[in-house]
Amino acid sequence: MPLVTTTEMFKKAYDGGYAIGAFNVNNMEIVQGITEACAEEHAPVILQVSKGARAYANHTYLVKLVEAAVIECPDIPIALHLDHGPDFETCKSCIDGGFTSVMIDASSKPFAENIEITRKVVEYAHDHGVVVEAELGTLAGIEDDVKVASHAASYTRPEEVEEFVAKTGCDSLAIAIGTSHGAYKFTAAQCTRNEKGILVPPPLRFDVLEEITKRLPGFPIVLHGSSSVPQNYVAMINANGGKMPDAVGIPEEQLRQAARSAVCKINIDSDLRLAMTGTIRAYFNEHPDHFDPRQYLKPARANIKELVRHKLIDVLGCAGKA
Ligand code: G3H
Ligand code: 13P
Ligand code: ZN
Repeated sequence: MPLVTTTEMFKKAYDGGYAIGAFNVNNMEIVQGITEACAEEHAPVILQVSKGARAYANHTYLVKLVEAAVIECPDIPIALHLDHGPDFETCKSCIDGGFTSVMIDASSKPFAENIEITRKVVEYAHDHGVVVEAELGTLAGIEDDVKVASHAASYTRPEEVEEFVAKTGCDSLAIAIGTSHGAYKFTAAQCTRNEKGILVPPPLRFDVLEEITKRLPGFPIVLHGSSSVPQNYVAMINANGGKMPDAVGIPEEQLRQAARSAVCKINIDSDLRLAMTGTIRAYFNEHPDHFDPRQYLKPARANIKELVRHKLIDVLGCAGKA
């Protein structure tokens, strides 16, 4: 089937109590690892491309890689989504350039300005058959070149969501309930430590999610910053020359809970990076004489695939839903 929008995916996910995985793609091996797992597990999927990914790999290369995945995986719905579109021009370029979904992230702007920019993107997108994700609230962490300190982050205010959705006409809403971008989601001061000395982050604000859901019944909610930062990969990186002390993510148990609710899209990027980097670091340590990229990218791609498979089955609940 051709690339799809997220409309049908989200309706089924909302009604079925699961979430679609939105995985960031930056190169061929990442696209292959994700889509091979989704095809084998019969899971719908969103492949998303950030501004940084377009700058790194080039718009056309990424679109063509995703189109190749559509050909190779004909039985699963695949949406191509712009992640954190910073302005109208970037969204327009992706809408004109083959994307089926865009995010306009004007969440750092004042409320009225966020509405105005989002509305403009929605009008252009809907005229071209493309859907729009918008954001209210501010996540902590690093996205593209923007770093938001934890003290500058703010939860989405439930009393704003109805007006925002009504005035913008957006198709889904990303909210801030305590998730955070990157591999260092929380400072040690924000966490407690478990018996193994691993940081345990503060729980997500499910009360805020519930209040938003009450005000927007049936409306798809999106969670960004939802990597769980698997400690096996952090340990693999640290055991093979890396230095990532106190990298910590969102516990998968809480993501599972979110996936059962109005949350229809869960964004995962950092976990893929950790799997790839850990695998490659370990490979080089074991094979210091190897220099063929195919040799070390092959196990990295295989581990991305297994990580995605685990997310589909054990976290998102979307395996078998294609
Ligand atoms: O939320 C941001 C995503 O992880 C994309 O990261 O901007 O470094 O490509 P990036
Ligand atoms: P992570 O950094 O938690 O993987 O979040 C990715 C994301 O939100 C992409 O938009
Ligand atoms: Zn994000």
